Amino acid sequence: MLHTRILIADTAEQAGKLAADEFEAVIAKKPAAVIGLATGSTPLPLYRELIAREKAGKIDFSKVRSANLDEYKGLAPDHEQSYRKFMQDNLLSHISIKPENTIVPLGLAEDIEKMCQEYEEKIESWGGVDCQLLGIGHDGHIGFNEPEDHFPAMTHEVKLTEMTINANKRFFDSIDDVPRAAITMGIGTIMAAKKIVMIVTGADKKEILKKTFWGPVDPQVPASILQFHPDVTLICDKAAYPFD
Ligand code: PGA
Repeated sequence: MLHTRILIADTAEQAGKLAADEFEAVIAKKPAAVIGLATGSTPLPLYRELIAREKAGKIDFSKVRSANLDEYKGLAPDHEQSYRKFMQDNLLSHISIKPENTIVPLGLAEDIEKMCQEYEEKIESWGGVDCQLLGIGHDGHIGFNEPEDHFPAMTHEVKLTEMTINANKRFFDSIDDVPRAAITMGIGTIMAAKKIVMIVTGADKKEILKKTFWGPVDPQVPASILQFHPDVTLICDKAAYPFD
């Protein structure tokens, strides 16, 4: 709670607009900003708003660089459920960002460890992430950093928990099609971002939101480490905010 700024929106749609204000300000100040992006249902209102704002001439993505949090292991970039495809469909193809300035971990990499190392190096060569977007899983995961007995530092391969596999099966034909492993930025990678914007919407996230920011910092609730980040803006809707 030390440094967290909290904005409470009436609706998820409005939360997306408040988050868009944050990204608009970052890019206005630094046209070649490096933004960290996320998948899931939560960022969709934000992405719709960013697309609309560029069309309206309020944001210019032509110099922006983007790095995504995570990707399923074993899925090709053009697989219907890959996070690369999600990003193309929901944001990247609709804005002026250059394809070569967007990175998502490669789910099909032969040498995962090497790819993870190169992912870190690429972000570093860009000067680090200026503004990282985060959602949160019901178990407190950020990216695919699941509850563990420690906070993993760097981009790495993870085994997905049953809770995450169950939460994500809605996107696949059957639960058996959900990949069992993924590649994710580490907690250290995320914490190195200069600024973090977390969006949390919906009553089903209330309990984990409370644990995250008002409970102890604990690797069993990976997002709780954000209490130690110096510049976090938490944007939630009324349904998710844990107090009246
Ligand atoms: P959601 O996913 O936005 O689809 O709820 C969030 C997450 O798992 O990080």
